[in-house]
Amino acid sequence: MAKPTSKVLVINDEPLILKELLKGLNAAARSLDNPFGISFIGALTAKEGLSLIERDGDIQVVIVDDKLYAVEEGPRRVHRNGAKNGKASNARESARSLQVSALKLVQKITALRPELDLYILIEKEREDEVVDTLFAEAVDGYFYREERDHRGMYRILNAQIAERARTPFYDALCAYVLAAKDAWHTPGHSSGDSLRGSPWVNDFYEFMGEHVFDADLSVSAKALDSLMEPTGVIAEAQQMAAKAFGARKTFFATNGTSTSNKVILQTLIAPGEKLLLDRNCHKSVHHGVMLSGAQPVYLDSSVNRQYGVFGPVPRATILRAIAEHSDAQLLVLTSCTYDGLRYDLKPIIDAAHASGIKVLIDEAWYGHARFHPDLRPTALEAGADYVTQSMHKTLSAFSQAAMIHVNDPGFREHLFRENFNMHTSTSPMYSLIASLDVGRKQAVMEGYKLLERTLMLASELRKQINSTGVFRVLELEDLLPEEVRNDNIRLDPTKITVDISSCGMTVDELQQELFTRFNITVEKSTVNTLTLLLTIGTTRSKCSRLYDALMRIAREKRTPRRLYRTPDLPPFTELVYLPRDAYYSGGELMALLDDNDQPNRDLVGRICADQIVPYPPGIPVLVPGQLITEGIVEFLIRYLRVQSKVELHGVVYQGYFPSIRVLTAAERGRLTALKGAEAASRAAA
Ligand SMILES: Cc1ncc(COP(=O)(O)O)c(C=O)c1O
Repeated sequence: MAKPTSKVLVINDEPLILKELLKGLNAAARSLDNPFGISFIGALTAKEGLSLIERDGDIQVVIVDDKLYAVEEGPRRVHRNGAKNGKASNARESARSLQVSALKLVQKITALRPELDLYILIEKEREDEVVDTLFAEAVDGYFYREERDHRGMYRILNAQIAERARTPFYDALCAYVLAAKDAWHTPGHSSGDSLRGSPWVNDFYEFMGEHVFDADLSVSAKALDSLMEPTGVIAEAQQMAAKAFGARKTFFATNGTSTSNKVILQTLIAPGEKLLLDRNCHKSVHHGVMLSGAQPVYLDSSVNRQYGVFGPVPRATILRAIAEHSDAQLLVLTSCTYDGLRYDLKPIIDAAHASGIKVLIDEAWYGHARFHPDLRPTALEAGADYVTQSMHKTLSAFSQAAMIHVNDPGFREHLFRENFNMHTSTSPMYSLIASLDVGRKQAVMEGYKLLERTLMLASELRKQINSTGVFRVLELEDLLPEEVRNDNIRLDPTKITVDISSCGMTVDELQQELFTRFNITVEKSTVNTLTLLLTIGTTRSKCSRLYDALMRIAREKRTPRRLYRTPDLPPFTELVYLPRDAYYSGGELMALLDDNDQPNRDLVGRICADQIVPYPPGIPVLVPGQLITEGIVEFLIRYLRVQSKVELHGVVYQGYFPSIRVLTAAERGRLTALKGAEAASRAAA
C-alpha cells in the first residue's frame, strides 16, 4: 500500500537557527514513530516559503517565525535584537512591522492553501502581542523559539496531521464491520449471507465484493450515529468537513445536490414568498419551487447561440432583479455551470445581502474548487449563505453523495432539520456517508497535489486536441455569450468543451465512434460540441488514449459539416399562478397538434400545469402556472419534429399524440392569480 509523505515547512530568516531547527526536528522524525512520513524542510524568506508551498503538494504544515521580512518589500533584514536595544520607540516600531509581516505571510499562505496547518514560532516575551495580532487568522498553535523542544514539537505536529487525516465515520464503520456482529436487523441480505453460496445470485456478491455487503448496515447499529439526528461520528465527520470547506456547518446528503437544493428551498421559502433564480437552474431547483410554494422570478441566462451553450445570467440582469424585488427571500445561481463558467460572485452576493436577500449557490460541479487557488474563490469564500455540492461529481465520493454547507448567520437549524429529514431515507447507505468522510480527507491531505496534476493534464490535453487540426477546444472567449463579456466570468479548465463541427460527423455519430471503436465515454454533448470532464481521477494514459482516438478520426478527413444553430428558446411569458398551485391541480391533457397536424390553437391562452423541459439543454420552456402562447406551442412542435433525439420532459403521449397538462376552467376559477397577473388570468380564462 502506498505510504503518505508529509513535509513540514519552517520559514525562518536566520540561517543558523533554521539549520539547527531542521536538524533537531528531522532527528525527532527519524527516531519517533512516523506514520505519515514527516520530514522538515526550510525557507529563509517569505518569498521562498510561498513558492515552496505553491510547488510542493506534499507540504502539510507550515511553521512561520514571527520575525520575518515583509513579503512585498523584498529582503529587508530585521535585527533579531531590535526589540531589546534600549531605544523604546524604535523597538515598538520595529515590533509592529515584524508583526505585520508575519500576519501578511499567514494570510498569504491561507489564501494559497487554506487546508494547511499553520504554527507560529514566537519569543516568550512577545507572546501576547503576537497572539493578539494573529487572533483572527487560521493559526493552529504556537511554539516558543527558546524551548528547542524538537521532539515535543514533532509529536504535536504529528498529532495535528493525524487529526486532519482522521475519518471518524469511516473508522467507526470499519471497526464495526471488523467486529463481525451477528445481525438481527436489516438489510435483508444480512452482510451478504443471503447471496453468498446461492447458485442464482452468488455472482452479484462476487462482483460487488464482500465489503459492499458487510458495510451495508442498519440504523440499528448505534455506534454509527444517525444521519437524521447526528450526535456522534457523523456529527464529527460533518464538523471536519465544515472546517475543510470553510463553512459554519456542513450536512451530509445521500441523495445528491438534487435533494439538497429542495431541502434548502423548502427551509428558506414560505408559500407565496419570492425567489430569484436563474431560469437555467437545475431541475431540482424548479422542483423546490413547486414544493415550497415559492413565487419565482426567473432570470434569463446568457446563451452562446453558435455553440448552443447556456452561460451565466448577466450581472446587470441579476442586479436589476435584486433592486426590483428587494422583497425576495433568496437568490439561486449555478456556479460553475456544467460547462465550467463561473461567476464573479462577490459583488452579486454583496448586492443581494444589502437587500436582505439570502444566496444559495449550486456548486454541484465545483466541489473541488476549495483545494486549488486557481479555482477559488469558492461561493462560500465569496459570502454565499448556502452552498450545495455533488461531492461525487468531481471528488472521490460515491454517486449521490453530496454536501450542504451553511454560512447563514441567521440559520434556523430546527427548520432545516425538519426539511432535511423529510427528504432523507430512514435507511441511508453508510458507504455513501463513509465516502464523504474519506473524500474530505483526501481533499485536505492531497487535493492540492492532485488538482495541480489535473490542471496540468487539462492544459496538455487542450493543446493535444487543438493539434489534431480538426477538433478545437473552446476557450473562455469562445464560450462566453456576448451579454456576459464584461462580467468577469472565468472558466474551470477541468471542463473541456470541444468544437466537433469540422470532423464531418454529427455529435451522435462521433460519440458512437468514440464508444464502440475506442472505448471512450464523454460527459455530455450539444449539437456542435463534446464536453470532457477531468477530475482528480484522470490519468495521463486516459488522456493519451483520447488524444490518439481524436487524432485518428481527424486523419480520416471527412468533409466538415456546417455549424448547427440550436433554436432559440422562446422568452418567458407570464406566471399567472404559483407553480405549486398549478402543479397540484388535476388539470386536463391537451394535444399539441390539432386534427390537421397543425399547432393546436386551443392551447393558446391556457395555463400549463407541468414543467416542460427540452433536454438538453434542460431549461424549462414552460413551468407550472405559466401562460401558454402561440410562440411556445409552435416552438414545442418544431422541437418535436426536428430534434428527434432531444427528450421533451413533461410532454405526455396519448397514443401517438404528444400532449401537455393544462389547468381546467374550473381550476382557474378556484385559484388566486398572482398580483399583476390578473389581466393575463382573465385573458387565459
Ligand atoms: C447544476 C446542477 N445542480 C444539481 C445537479 C444534481 O446533482 P446530483 O446528481 O448530485 O443530484 C446537477 C446534476 O447534473 C447539476 O448539473
